[in-house]
Amino acid sequence: MPVERLVAAGQTFNQPEYTDNFYEAIGGHATFVQLVDVFYDGVADDEVLRPMYPEQDLGPAKERLLLFLEQYWGGPKAYGEQRGHPRLRMRHMPFRVGPQARDHWLQHMRAAVEALDLAPLHEATLWDYLDRAAHSMVNAAD
Ligand code: HEM
Repeated sequence: MPVERLVAAGQTFNQPEYTDNFYEAIGGHATFVQLVDVFYDGVADDEVLRPMYPEQDLGPAKERLLLFLEQYWGGPKAYGEQRGHPRLRMRHMPFRVGPQARDHWLQHMRAAVEALDLAPLHEATLWDYLDRAAHSMVNAAD
């Protein structure tokens, strides 16, 4: 097929269908499901975090975090379709997120990231983001 036809079809050799993003690189959907599963197992037993969640069932909150993280790292865009623009700091304003809550959140997220057993560079990339995001979410003193 002539190159112009390939370009029109979006199939040029230098513009492949993208699969080499971070989401795919660390294992796609299964990896993110494991991450939020382990994280929410920790939240469920946490005396500081558990009372902050408005719903009795943590399932819907787990799903929102899953969809957000998948979208952020280059996976499906379901979060935006269902919830719109993330505006995460604003969405956390109804909750008192102080340093103690942040540290508990990070403690469970650390355990969840370690359970994935990622390559060191992938783990560092993921952790760096989560750590910075958690610090930016603080909106109150303890
Ligand atoms: C720093 C400590 C944090 C605490 C104590 C906290 C707590 C909460 C709580 C109580 C909710 C409401 C649960 C629900 O969805 O019904 C929530 C929602 C959410 N949180 Fe956090 N969070 C923290 C940090 C983060 C970070 C760092 C991220 C992202 C990397 C994040 C992502 C989300 C998302 C995506 C939602 C759902 C937003 C929506 O669409 O409504 N949270 N969080």
